[in-house]
Amino acid sequence: MSLRAIVLAAGRGTRMRSDLPKVLFPIAGRPLLAWVLDAVASVSPEETVVVVGHGAERVREVLPAGVQAVVQEPQQGTGHAAMVALAAMGEVAGDTVVIVPGDTPLLRPETLQELLAALPGAAAALLTTRMPDPAGYGRVRREGDRVLGIVEDRDATPEQRAIAEVAVSTYAFEGAALAAALGGLARDNDQGEYYLTDAIGLLAASGTVRGVPVADPAEVQGVNSHAQLAEVAAVVRRRINAAWMAAGVWMLDPDRVYLDAAVSLEAGARLYPEVHLEGNSTVAAEATVGPQVFAVDSVIGSGARVWYAVLRGAEVGEGAQVGPFASLRPGTRLAAGSKVGTFVETKNTVVGRGSKVPHLSYMGDATIGEEANVGAGTITCNYDGREKHRTVIGNRAFIGSDTMLVAPVNIGDDAVTGAGSAITRDVPPGALAVERSPQREVPGYAAKKARKTRDKG
Ligand code: UD1
Ligand code: MG
Repeated sequence: MSLRAIVLAAGRGTRMRSDLPKVLFPIAGRPLLAWVLDAVASVSPEETVVVVGHGAERVREVLPAGVQAVVQEPQQGTGHAAMVALAAMGEVAGDTVVIVPGDTPLLRPETLQELLAALPGAAAALLTTRMPDPAGYGRVRREGDRVLGIVEDRDATPEQRAIAEVAVSTYAFEGAALAAALGGLARDNDQGEYYLTDAIGLLAASGTVRGVPVADPAEVQGVNSHAQLAEVAAVVRRRINAAWMAAGVWMLDPDRVYLDAAVSLEAGARLYPEVHLEGNSTVAAEATVGPQVFAVDSVIGSGARVWYAVLRGAEVGEGAQVGPFASLRPGTRLAAGSKVGTFVETKNTVVGRGSKVPHLSYMGDATIGEEANVGAGTITCNYDGREKHRTVIGNRAFIGSDTMLVAPVNIGDDAVTGAGSAITRDVPPGALAVERSPQREVPGYAAKKARKTRDKG
């Protein structure tokens, strides 16, 4: 006897009003379907088949190795989807077939195990729950412990609509029983579809079907709309944040911390509100991040301080400081103890150990040595309209405020540039470069001006 799994994911997801297949909408940086497949994988099926239809090619791309896609075209209902999957599986008599919808990402492994544990001796078992508002769901008809069938909302009588216990498209079947029941399905319903729910009625007529109630309806909540997607994402977020807090991460307000599933944090990391860490971002111990940080695929080293900042493909070294109000673009590497301060943008730039770019600067395609200081308002003019050029700033160099560094250009170790200079030639080590017209003073200017105005009047 072996276990096989079918995931139903061919539906349109009409209410999302999107070309993106519903099961590909991201939750914590992973497609909705990936969360479902995690739950399925936790019960170790020998074979997993995902039924795809709407956006089949894009769905296929996200499937992990070992998970097979079968195309259901046209989509003639959940029963038809199960038929298509079985046809791809071959002989299933004697096996257990578990069927899960592709849009319930909160389903827990423990619950799937309970479902499987209820199957022995029965033809089928199904998860049920009590929804506060069961409208739209199939209602479970029961006689005590025995499930008699499922009636779809649109086909239900008013008395049946009053039933609070609903079916949630999650089943375990004995293989031969499933195959036989699918063979007996008809399309004599309101939608002219093959309903998988009807298989339950057929099996209950000649054998046993067990209902396995799920206490928290949120766990089996399907995602059919953006509102439901947001609710489910909030639950996933809470689970992720709770796990990191248990692992030693400090969060001032975990409801306002947004972490992708692939993010990794060290114990002792501190996160203030409105921190969004996406992709493979990491935060090391004793780093303080936020408020207001959006980081994608970025590394924040131990003891670093990053606040009010956007980081994309950036590396912040040990004890480095970023922000407030900084934008670190791809290829930014801040060495230990360096600083990128207020209203500073960097791109493809290395800021050496202990060097500082504290205010109002753009550093693009630059390499800054160690212990250098870049004055307020300094700009690397890295683009000549056709190509990008590099700026190299030596160790301990002092770049005066409002320097324009017209690349390609090298500023030597210990060199100094005068405030307001447009530097177009290399500056040798230890030299001072000043490029600006000499200042002159006009004595008595104010009095002269006042006289002129009086004479006119
Ligand atoms: C279905 C159930 C209903 C249950 C509800 C919520 C049926 C007839 N009804 O209704 O009892 O309360 O789900 O779990 O099964 N799908 C396919 N191919 C198809 C049609 C659907 O793969 O041809 C997939 C969808 O992508 C989705 C799942 O099956 O993942 C359920 O389909 P959906 O259209 O949402 O069914 P409901 O009408 O909501
Ligand atoms: Mg549905």
